[in-house]
Amino acid sequence: MKKLFLTILTSLLFSGMLRADEGMWIPALLHKNEAEMQAMGMKITADDIYSINHSSMKDAVVLFGGGCTGEIVSDQGLLLTNHHCGFDWIQKHSTVEHDYLTEGFWAMTMDEELPCPGLKAKMLRNMVDVTEKVLFNITDETTDEERAKIVKENIDKLVKDQQAMSDYKVTVESFYLGNQYFLMFNEIFDDIRMVGAPPSNIGKFGGDTDNWVWPRHTGDFSIFRIYKDGKPYKPDYHFTISLKGVEEGDFTFVFGYPARTNEYLPAVAVNQEANVVYPVVVDLRTQILDIYNKYQEKDAKIRLQYASKHADIGNGWKKWMGVIEGIHNFKGIEKKQAFEEAFYAWCQKQRNRVIYTRALREFDNVYAEFEKYRMATTYLTEAGFAIELFNFSSVFDPLTEVDKDTPKEELDALIEELKATAAGFYKDYYMPIDKEVAVTMLKAYRDAQPKDFRPEILNEIDKKFKGNVEAYVDYVFNRSIFASEEKTNKFLDGFKPSQAKKITKDPAFVAYKSIIGFYLTEVYPKSAEYNAKINNLRRVYMEGQMKMIPEVYPEKRLYPDANFTLRVTYGKVGGFKPKDAVTYGYFTTLDGIMQKENPNIYDYVVTDRLHELYDAKDYGRYADKDGTMHVAFIAGNHTTGGNSGSPILNAEGKLLGLNFDRTWEGTMSDLIYDPSICKNISVDIRYVLFLIDKYAGCTRLIDEMTIDE
Ligand code: ARG
Ligand code: GLU
Repeated sequence: MKKLFLTILTSLLFSGMLRADEGMWIPALLHKNEAEMQAMGMKITADDIYSINHSSMKDAVVLFGGGCTGEIVSDQGLLLTNHHCGFDWIQKHSTVEHDYLTEGFWAMTMDEELPCPGLKAKMLRNMVDVTEKVLFNITDETTDEERAKIVKENIDKLVKDQQAMSDYKVTVESFYLGNQYFLMFNEIFDDIRMVGAPPSNIGKFGGDTDNWVWPRHTGDFSIFRIYKDGKPYKPDYHFTISLKGVEEGDFTFVFGYPARTNEYLPAVAVNQEANVVYPVVVDLRTQILDIYNKYQEKDAKIRLQYASKHADIGNGWKKWMGVIEGIHNFKGIEKKQAFEEAFYAWCQKQRNRVIYTRALREFDNVYAEFEKYRMATTYLTEAGFAIELFNFSSVFDPLTEVDKDTPKEELDALIEELKATAAGFYKDYYMPIDKEVAVTMLKAYRDAQPKDFRPEILNEIDKKFKGNVEAYVDYVFNRSIFASEEKTNKFLDGFKPSQAKKITKDPAFVAYKSIIGFYLTEVYPKSAEYNAKINNLRRVYMEGQMKMIPEVYPEKRLYPDANFTLRVTYGKVGGFKPKDAVTYGYFTTLDGIMQKENPNIYDYVVTDRLHELYDAKDYGRYADKDGTMHVAFIAGNHTTGGNSGSPILNAEGKLLGLNFDRTWEGTMSDLIYDPSICKNISVDIRYVLFLIDKYAGCTRLIDEMTIDE
């Protein structure tokens, strides 16, 4: 009976793998996917997408800033990305007089484009498989420690030799968890200027409420320009824009920089993530967000002060709830277990495969032992670091190292810097929220973590304050200098090296030191040890899977986990059934924005200007053939964080829109992909152009684009 059950599960698992939607493919190896992509409807070649011999689409895709994707859409380096990717820059350029976040920003001439010092874009110029060179001198007898050392030496040498001959930034990246290595040549652009952004009630329409959710109506785009040598950059390639829109079943592909996935984890690890770690994180964040909400609802100023903090905490919170539910509903653990049964069976066929069985078995022990450290880290980051006052007091740490020999200029500069940090902190700080968060988080932290394995401060609450967390929090917030802006500034103004003690004795600083100190001495070293073990086991298990899957499931092709390198994913446009009796269509329109409109709810405000255009149906050539203005659409592309802003392209490689999110039901796709519910969400390029052209009247940008009617 068990066997039969497993066979059914295995076939269930791999029926999914036959679907082509899964996978984030290495562009340099895309010829392996070309036939399938063309069978699905693609009219171009893999060489059109990635080539090092002539210009290709890869010359128009960049890693934007630290964690998003952008694409070039004109021969003058005009760059599109998401509003939430440009957000920090829009905010940085905003002042009370020019609030670009609220009002939007449009550079009506090139001179008005705003420099963004520190913002970089990275473009892949070439990638070469160097696996043999990196793994040179490694044999079956090499120990894990020796292996790590040899790999590092080989990589360092390769990078050094290549960098000496190249103008591009040279790195080596690991794929398949250390089973394949590529040498990467990237061009770095460091003069990026801000060109345009819609107001937040368009670029962030639906806000955190709609985040991760379909149906969606967010105009999530912003516009930048790459400059080189002070002039607009002339790219080797820029995307042509399609005004034709999409229909159900259309082929699409997404080209961008997915950050991290873990598709090849053993069941025991997925179980730890989805059933042990995420539920705790979600629970802690729910408590924090409840507190934020309570105060934010009451007061407009507080709503603004905590908007960005709320968004940061809320993004992962919501996603992980989706992961937990997805893993449960789609039997993620059972599918992994069924696969492991099949893997064991395959290993049994040859004696030399015993290393793989051993690795797979070893996971159980290592993850079981690791759990204690994993949870300690989780409580530290989620509960301990949630207390703003503790975090803030940590910035004064450098002052504790100052003594009478410290040069005056150095000290003055440090004080100035701290004053600026303090001003930024207090601007968005509301103490009643932080006190309530502190009480709630410290209780949770203390109750969940064993007495003999937690920061000393938690034991002190039990001893000195008889377990009364409220009394302890009152004590800290009343006594700490850093709880008061006035006292902090006074302290900084009159600071003398002899006063360093005031910091080390400050109760907020003491709490911070206790929490971080416990982590650094008791948690981190062990965690690092376990992580190294896990990484080695994962590499071996991955190697086994790379041999087993092509043999046992020849229809399935393997792809490496996302690692912040450029990838191609492809899938078809279409709606889906997230649950019983519910069906989602594949596109949304401006009508939906008007349906969601609520002038009293910040996330759903619609401007008069958008109303006017809607009432007049003044969509110009950007209307769909059904006469409406399409806003967003979903398709079966395998994307993750980092793919924000990525171009989504049609069968001819023309730009259809910008990827910006996934549907909540399918967020488990970072761990296990199910094509029936894993969908990416894109903003329709016609809505983007409509906003630039009709809404903002910034027609000079439209004029420099190449548009296919
Ligand atoms: N969920 C998207 C991502 O992971 C969008 C996040 C920004 N938007 C927001 N409403 N918080 O990055
Ligand atoms: N919003 C995400 C990003 O910033 C993309 C959503 C996802 O995780 O797929 O990259």
